[in-house]
Formats: sequence, structure tokens, C-alpha cells
Amino acid sequence: MNLNEFLNKYKDQYPQPAVEYIVNNFGKVLPLNNPDILNQVYDALGMFKDRNPYLAYLKLLEQHFDISSNILEIGGGFYPAFATHVRDRQLQTRKGTITVYDKMLVTQDLPHMKLVKQDFKIQDSVSPYDLLVGILPCDATTLIIKKANEENKNFFIVLCNCTHFSRQYLMFNRPTLENWRKYIKEVFDSTKKDNEEMLVLDSPTEYTNYKVLIKKQKN
Ligand SMILES: C[S@@+](CC[C@H](N)C(=O)[O-])C[C@H]1O[C@@H](n2cnc3c(N)ncnc32)[C@H](O)[C@@H]1O
Repeated sequence: MNLNEFLNKYKDQYPQPAVEYIVNNFGKVLPLNNPDILNQVYDALGMFKDRNPYLAYLKLLEQHFDISSNILEIGGGFYPAFATHVRDRQLQTRKGTITVYDKMLVTQDLPHMKLVKQDFKIQDSVSPYDLLVGILPCDATTLIIKKANEENKNFFIVLCNCTHFSRQYLMFNRPTLENWRKYIKEVFDSTKKDNEEMLVLDSPTEYTNYKVLIKKQKN
């Protein structure tokens, strides 16, 4: 598929400014730290070759978790690039499911995955899933941590470097990256069970500096 074919298929589902952004910026910053909207298109068009951030995250995920499980990705993006790789691995093992929530999804019709064009909400249950995943999930970061802690689930989160504080936190703290990472740790600590811990790993790629957060319960 090339960009024209991709846009012919999906452009009506993107907001118009997003289509203009893709057309105007396509190909210009590859393969560095692109905005996710472009990364998803580059991935769908197979342009990353051996420097694919989604595959790097998947490799790290597989070092910690069984991919053949029921996975919920919250904040999959316009085009759910990461989930397509999870799906492809699950097809190899013939086990596991992948469900994606994002109200910005431009398709709900990709094979072997469930795509839900809605925000995941704090009152929604995560009980059908074994693992919660967020790849740069912005506002959904704290929601993933709280839901996993509330319903005793594991999580794998590639943490955004843009910040998403509660208003209350901002009354007393500056919105720095350092404070954002501290804030996330506080959200985890204040909602976890006594024996639970969160691993904070460095990025698995050399071209991004996102932290990766992992909660893995002992069986
Ligand atoms: C920075 S984008 C990352 C997209 C994708 N994971 C990627 O890396 O290509 C964050 C996404 O999270 C979504 N999001 C934020 N809050 C959400 C929620 N409560 N439920 C589902 N999606 C959410 C946004 O709509 C946006 O598409």
C-alpha cells in the first residue's frame, strides 16, 4: 500500500486537519521521533524497516508477558499500529485476543482484532482481559494504572513525555517531565495493593527516551 491508497481507504474517518497534517509532513522526519499520527501511517505502509518503534515495544512486552493472552490496548490511535503487530504474533501462536479502544479510530474493520471506537472509561470493567497496554496513552495513562490496580491486572505502558496531570496536582507543582514521572509513581503507589510493584524501564529504542512502566503480578 502507498500513501494515496492508505488515504483513499481511511481519509474520510480522519478529522480533515489530520489528513492535511499527514499530507504536508509525510516522509519528512522519518525515522526519528515522529508524532504518533505519522508513525501509524509509516507502520501501516511498512516504512520503518528495521527501526520500527512498535516492534521494539512488542519485543519488550514479550520479554515480560505471554502474548497469547487477552490483551486490552487503551489509546490505540487513529490507525491501531501496535495492535496489528500483537495480532500478527497471536496469529502465529494461534492464541490470544487483542481489543483496542480509542474514539479516534479510523477503522473498526481489521481482521482478528476487536476495535471499539470509544474512550475507555473509569467505570468500564477490565475483567475480560489479562493485560492492559498503553502505547503513549496520554490522558488514559492514569486510568490504565488505576483500573489495573483496582481489578488486579498487569499493565505495560510506554509513558508519554507530554504531561497529563490532575488539576489538583498542578495547583502545587510545575508541569515538568520529572514531575510527570513522579506523579505517575504516586498514582500507582496510592492505588496498588501492598505487595505490588511497578518496574520503570528505559526505552527499548535508541531514538526515543520514553520510560516503560510494567506491573507484573506474581502468580
Ligand atoms: C499519543 S496517542 C498514541 C496513539 C498510539 N498508541 C500510538 O502510539 O501510535 C494517544 C491516544 O490515546 C487516546 N486516548 C486518550 N484517552 C483515552 C481513553 N480514555 N480511552 C481510549 N483512548 C484514549 C487518544 O484518543 C489518542 O489517540
